Amino acid sequence: MQRVFSGVKPSGIITLGNYLGAMRNFVEMQADYECYYSVVDLHALTVPQDPQALRQQALTLAALYLAIGIDPQQATLFVQSHVPAHAELGWLLQCSSYMGELSRMTQFKDKAAEQESVTAGLFTYPTLMAADILLYQADVVPVGEDQKQHLELTRDIAIRFNNRFGETFTVPEPVIPKVGARIMSLTDPTKKMSKSDNPASYISLLDEPNVIKKKINRAVTDSESVVRYDPDNKPGVSNLLVIHALCAGETVTSLEDRYSGQGYGVLKRDTIDAIVAVLEPIQARYRELMAGDGEQVLAILRQGAERADAVAQATLRRVQAAMGLILP
Ligand code: AQP
Repeated sequence: MQRVFSGVKPSGIITLGNYLGAMRNFVEMQADYECYYSVVDLHALTVPQDPQALRQQALTLAALYLAIGIDPQQATLFVQSHVPAHAELGWLLQCSSYMGELSRMTQFKDKAAEQESVTAGLFTYPTLMAADILLYQADVVPVGEDQKQHLELTRDIAIRFNNRFGETFTVPEPVIPKVGARIMSLTDPTKKMSKSDNPASYISLLDEPNVIKKKINRAVTDSESVVRYDPDNKPGVSNLLVIHALCAGETVTSLEDRYSGQGYGVLKRDTIDAIVAVLEPIQARYRELMAGDGEQVLAILRQGAERADAVAQATLRRVQAAMGLILP
């Protein structure tokens, strides 16, 4: 069976962008692949976090993984910081990557521009992401469009390492959906939807129907009233069409036909209904899972960390030996 790895940062409550762009694929892949899915909490530390909020967000994210349909019998679900090999391989890969290639990462440039002071971790974060993937010898990595460049770097690091030290890592392939790979912000549809942005800009998986209604009704569109998919000239309306299509299981073209000649109000009303229909059952499962302080979620994470640790340690030992470290 081929292996899959992917992770999500607990830097807020996951958004419809995270779900439609990546996490929906996680669920679909679990029957056909050996899957490792992680709450990548170490990545969240690259920008300032409130410790108490971070802990809660990590647990919420783990519960949401389960609520969207990740089955812990099929997939290994774990918290990154519970498997020390991530940080250890992260260091070894920092010593196998170059300032020049890390400086080219567009996400670093964007995030650094938003920060008052930039941590070293924000700069080296793509090497930790490479470690996450390479530890599990993942063949495929389902991600949204924004992670494509990091995946390319991971491939470069793996190929370079294999050439220098001998075959050690599987070189992973990204899996990026054709539709929904970049869900846009509701308040500025020229930038992507992000969970650490202003809450009005995203739909969180835990937003109540009345909140979803308010956010979609206020979503930025344009001064025309023509429903047409045209991301360059009509980014707001195009974003609503994509969200609606994915939530309703329809194509963007069929929605363009249905709403042609109708104003944005009708499109928005039906988009709200489509989102609520997807999120309501997820929220109901989430509430069940979190009953009793989330103890059942923590138990699943403990088991997941044990399984992940065994696989990760085996790769780490190979890397340490290849690089010339004395094994303990
Ligand atoms: N807007 C998006 N559309 C489609 N896919 C997206 N992803 C993120 N935003 C969108 C994908 O979701 C997965 C998990 O992302 P992450 O949490 O690891 O980090 P991120 O890409 O930085 O996501 P956010 O929501 O923007 O977080 P913050 O605000 O903390 O930076 C990834 O596969 C990602 O591609």
